[in-house]
Amino acid sequence: MTEKQALLPYEWPGSYFLGEEEIEAVTRVLLARSPFRFYGHDLQHCVDQFEQAYCDRLGRKYALGVNSGTAALSIALGAMDVGPGDEVLLPGYLWVSCISAVVRTGAIPRLVDIDDTFFMDPDDLERKITPHSKVVLVVNMSGTTGHIDRIVEIARRHNLLVLEDNAQANGASFRGRPLGSFGDIAIFSFQLNKNMTSGEGGIVVCDDRRLYDRAFALHDLGYARNEKGRLTTEDPDCQLWGQGSRMSELTAAVLLAQERKLDTITAAMRRANHHLYAGLAGIAGVRPRRVLDPEGDSGPFALLIWPDADTCEKMVAATRAAGVVTGPDGGNNIMMTDWGLHLYYNNASLVNRRGTNSAGRPWTDPANAFAADYTYGKGTLRQADDLFSRSSLLSVPPVLSAETCDRVVAIFRQAAADLGL
Ligand SMILES: Cc1ncc(COP(=O)(O)O)c(C=O)c1O
Repeated sequence: MTEKQALLPYEWPGSYFLGEEEIEAVTRVLLARSPFRFYGHDLQHCVDQFEQAYCDRLGRKYALGVNSGTAALSIALGAMDVGPGDEVLLPGYLWVSCISAVVRTGAIPRLVDIDDTFFMDPDDLERKITPHSKVVLVVNMSGTTGHIDRIVEIARRHNLLVLEDNAQANGASFRGRPLGSFGDIAIFSFQLNKNMTSGEGGIVVCDDRRLYDRAFALHDLGYARNEKGRLTTEDPDCQLWGQGSRMSELTAAVLLAQERKLDTITAAMRRANHHLYAGLAGIAGVRPRRVLDPEGDSGPFALLIWPDADTCEKMVAATRAAGVVTGPDGGNNIMMTDWGLHLYYNNASLVNRRGTNSAGRPWTDPANAFAADYTYGKGTLRQADDLFSRSSLLSVPPVLSAETCDRVVAIFRQAAADLGL
């Protein structure tokens, strides 16, 4: 497949909007020679401002800029005091960082099935809760959520904390309420393939002062800081172990500019996404992923559920051959079974219960003996396995034009006709 034939632009939503505003903001930080957030020659307070922008956007009390979404997950679980003897419930459609964050705390990941929203199935969550359950880690995958209100209600009823991973759904909402405002803690990522980006970056948000203070200490050097940005070690509740995941002023400068563009970016993706869903629905029996609140979908992916794996495979192959791919490597328009570490059973370290070092913890920890019969290989989650086997995925960048959407729909229609489907 040559680049010329590839019909779809690259994904990487926020990258298309990197421009003069970001250059100006970064330049200001450099000219002030103050790229560190806590002190410097002429501190510009970009991280502080960015955190405030996120509090305002989500209606939350506290926000903490960090250097990645993966770090944000680890910090959040640490703030929630998760460790050996605990289990964290998480869905089968996720990203490897969700699992690694749990394993590195010394706790056990417990898989929960998904439904056709591609979000955690509330009924399976009810079935999976045990006396060891401490946190429900929900993941708003591929731009939107599912029955998040029901999940939160179940968690509250069982006295469990909710950690909301909103890395893939920045700028999305559910029935008028922003995603990132549901969990006790929510995290975001600003890595390149996210709705807004600084290449690397993340944020942790919450409303509880104690969770915030712990997260702050964990993201830094294990302690609080005073108003002058100097470490203070006296508070016995904040004598922890830090992981050095601070956000730099340069990152925050870019993100301040990107945040102002986020709603424009998601509106463009949502428009293209709705266009594709409307045009493709019904072709060869396909139906879109169930989106409970289409107006709240941030739009970066269209997930298509085909009647069976054979139809899915044939349609993907035929439409790829007709140019529905991205770039010379032919990414995009893939079977979900090729979606790598987003599928629980593709995470070899999980399936094979690899430990954090050769001693094998957390799996070998006596405090975790309760999890001896938990399984992680394919076959563990019936609904997820079925959905993955017969679904395909299109990424929907904000620069995808209406004309290209029409062209994609026409190619799918032609492929179905040619295949007699
Ligand atoms: C659902 C989800 N969680 C967490 C992350 C981790 O974010 P980062 O790449 O910034 O570490 C990602 C991003 O890749 C993600 O998609």
